[in-house]
Amino acid sequence: MELTTQKHRSFEPSDDARAGANIAGMEAYRALVAQAEHDYEGFWARLARETIEWHEPFSKVLDESNAPFYTWFEDGELNASYNCLDRHVAAGHGERVAIIFEADDGAVTRVTYAQMLARVSRLANALKRRGIARGDRVVIYMPMSVEGIVAMHACARIGATHSVVFGGFSAKSLHERIVDVGAVAIITADEQMRGGKTLPLKPIVDDALAMGGCEAVESVIVYRRTGGEIAWNAGRDCWMHDVVANESDVCEPEWVGTEHPLFILYTSGSTGKPKGVQHSTGGYLLWAAQTMKWTFDWKREDVFWCTADIGWITGHTYIAYGPLALGATQVVFEGVPTYPNAGRFWKMIDDHQVSLFYTAPTAIRSLIKAAEADERVHPARYDLSSLRIIGTVGEPINPEAWLWYRQHVGALRCPVVDTWWQTETGGHMITPLPGATPTVPGSCTLPLPGIMAAVVDETGQDVPDGQGGILVVKRPWPSMIRTIWGDAERFTKSYYPQELGGALYLAGDGAVRDTNTAYFTITGRIDDVLNVSGHRLGTMEIESALVSHELVAEAAVVGRPDETTGEAVVAFVVLKRGCPRGEEAAQLAKALRDWVGKEIGPIAKPKDIRFGDNLPKTRSGKIMRRLLRSLAKGEAIAQDTSTLENPDILNQLGQAR
Ligand code: WT7
Repeated sequence: MELTTQKHRSFEPSDDARAGANIAGMEAYRALVAQAEHDYEGFWARLARETIEWHEPFSKVLDESNAPFYTWFEDGELNASYNCLDRHVAAGHGERVAIIFEADDGAVTRVTYAQMLARVSRLANALKRRGIARGDRVVIYMPMSVEGIVAMHACARIGATHSVVFGGFSAKSLHERIVDVGAVAIITADEQMRGGKTLPLKPIVDDALAMGGCEAVESVIVYRRTGGEIAWNAGRDCWMHDVVANESDVCEPEWVGTEHPLFILYTSGSTGKPKGVQHSTGGYLLWAAQTMKWTFDWKREDVFWCTADIGWITGHTYIAYGPLALGATQVVFEGVPTYPNAGRFWKMIDDHQVSLFYTAPTAIRSLIKAAEADERVHPARYDLSSLRIIGTVGEPINPEAWLWYRQHVGALRCPVVDTWWQTETGGHMITPLPGATPTVPGSCTLPLPGIMAAVVDETGQDVPDGQGGILVVKRPWPSMIRTIWGDAERFTKSYYPQELGGALYLAGDGAVRDTNTAYFTITGRIDDVLNVSGHRLGTMEIESALVSHELVAEAAVVGRPDETTGEAVVAFVVLKRGCPRGEEAAQLAKALRDWVGKEIGPIAKPKDIRFGDNLPKTRSGKIMRRLLRSLAKGEAIAQDTSTLENPDILNQLGQAR
């Protein structure tokens, strides 16, 4: 693919955006890039000293002797919760608002840094009293709430490693994660509120624990969100408000080594089993704080709002850790963008005077649709003049949506930062800098200083600009994944494959760089991972869920481009009893969709299910996914089908259900 000239014009940062920016102008950016190239360790050591308050200073920077298990600042000691809370209170900022929490129903609560510190300390003391100690793993299955963030910091404070599971995951997915991570405790809520509806959480924890193999879980701590009726296991369950009631609001932080695992967050890979991405404490926190300053150009007066859920990496880095590490004021939102109407985000930006706004392309696309259908929820009806910088994350943003976002939300004034990164990278990797980089719709532009991103071919050789290839990172960086929990071999194979020479970090995305600007454009995943509404889903996970249904003999899952969700899940299914037709097929499709929802979670439900007597296979029995992808898109089959064992099957599977 040749991408010599950009299809879209570029937008220079305004003089206003440049003036006083943390990185002001491209010369300043290039100077930092040069510093990193010239003295890689010195560059990172300086940032580590600037962004973190060390309990014990480090003397070593990068250790590559056990590659690809790199370590950073290994002999330093720190505590993440201390860095996010105590140090701001000690500096006299205890009365500053840390969190402006807006509930689903619109109720607003403000929590200061001093209050956060007291709440985190009380819960940390309660965890210790229940026997939870440094190195233990705690699963957090919580709604978007102050309590969810407090739970993460309470773990960090005592040196326990948290593993947050998104509240939309099923009992089975939750169970798999509890067992894999070896959790000793679970922090959850009775129920959650989203879009005016009540959804269960504690009942799902009960179901997960009943599946067996979770004997290590001794405590289930329950935050009372709704007061809904829930079952109770007196020996194991306790209310959060009860356990913190008599605890001191002082808790000495547990000082941990820089490499101590702060958290494990599960994400989908190309095989069925989710990967427990293990992050460090120091390298991770450094980059969470630094990218707030660079990508969002954060300043003390800003009100930051990241709309992600704490169940995903974006919610870890740009809600729970990054903003707090700097002492920022941020909005945290419990609900959904379309309740009570699709003007909710715009109203909240106005109400809370948000200056830095960060959301997902899928949300933008669905709000464009809503604004076009009903002028009352159009951003033009709200005062968004507080905005300074607007960002997107999680999936490619199509130029039309980018231009709309810039015009109608950013008033042609706010720089748009399209940030490329991953659960594994810990923080931003390739992104415009709002006071420096000219932006181009659909491109995440240039790597941050210190990030050695490149595009290579299947053998690991650089490809010329304008030619598509595989996105890699050539040198380790502090916030990178340390390993896959319990599976070091899978870590090496997935991220440092021998085919590329074993020294390049393989992101799993394709990319192309522009011949004029060297800007990166991400062309999508190159493995069997789908991106639906910014959620990462493994095709094999969904296939395993489908074949675990008693009626299903075989299933293959592929992605299809979707106007709103970016990609949509399409499943091709062969039933044990033959191909159903008409009404029966429609009913079975619904039943299987619900089944996947129960097995994994509603986000994984196939949009389209197609039944056939068989799947298109080669004579050696390999499923031809290329053909399935064409069928899913409704394209005419242009590929060679001569190696196909059963060409007639294509007609049958071509029919959407
Ligand atoms: C995958 C990572 C990054 C935090 C949220 C998702 C895709 C992410 C972009 C972007 C194009 C993007 C990639 C990546 N992706 N950001 N700005 N442009 N694609 O984290 O669940 O680990 O998913 O999301 O395919 O590999 P994740």
